[in-house]
Amino acid sequence: MTDRKPLISGNWKMNHNHFEAIQMVQTLSYQLSSDDYTACDVSVHPPFTNLRSIQTVLESDHIPISLGAQHCHEEEKGAYTGEVSSGMLEKLNVKLVIVGHSERREIFNESNEQVNSKIKAIFKHSMTPILCVGETIEEREEGQAEIKVRAQLEEGLNGIGRERIGGMVIAYEPIWAIGTGVTATPEDAQSMCAYVRECVTSIAGKSASETVRIQYGGSVKPINAAELMSQKDIDGALVGGAALEADTFARIIQYRLH
Ligand code: PGA
Repeated sequence: MTDRKPLISGNWKMNHNHFEAIQMVQTLSYQLSSDDYTACDVSVHPPFTNLRSIQTVLESDHIPISLGAQHCHEEEKGAYTGEVSSGMLEKLNVKLVIVGHSERREIFNESNEQVNSKIKAIFKHSMTPILCVGETIEEREEGQAEIKVRAQLEEGLNGIGRERIGGMVIAYEPIWAIGTGVTATPEDAQSMCAYVRECVTSIAGKSASETVRIQYGGSVKPINAAELMSQKDIDGALVGGAALEADTFARIIQYRLH
């Protein structure tokens, strides 16, 4: 059994301009102690326009929070108006990139094939992907949740080396729990995260499945973080709404104290 250090990530989505972002990260850093960073890894994923500002704050104040992005394009460069490449993110010292978030899949029609190309591009630039998977409420009610998640994993991880898979992060985010205030029960979240790990075993082998970090996402809050995080196969949280306020996000990061 490998010890997996928890990773708590804040996905800000399209919130906070760069002034608000700087203030949020500074306030957050005042609330976190070195014990917190020893207990878990923390990342923030602001909108693209804030990355450079947040990079400067984190580096100049020596704040051990990893800089993350929410998305990237799979190509290196070219005529893709509005897009940002993984090489551009690497230059900003971005460490983690969210891929295949359900909002990207649903609103921007991203396919598993695109998700797969993005993961390859992220690895090529020495960053870590956070691959999001999860089912809709209809799929869950029809008993299709596992089938959906398995396909997302098999297609999303196609052709990616075992070692790389072992070093990445997978976020299980049931779509019906995102931004709804309805959290999966700790038991349901655990059972799906265990299933994700089982899929990783069959795709990439036992040692990859022992080191891959699996986050739960979907209405994580200070009040439910500790119970979710105590589950055997949950190695962290991908937090949306509750990661926007420094105080609330800090309480989630400090889940072990509550
Ligand atoms: P939520 O979002 O915490 O606001 O439900 C989670 C996510 O979309 O990653």
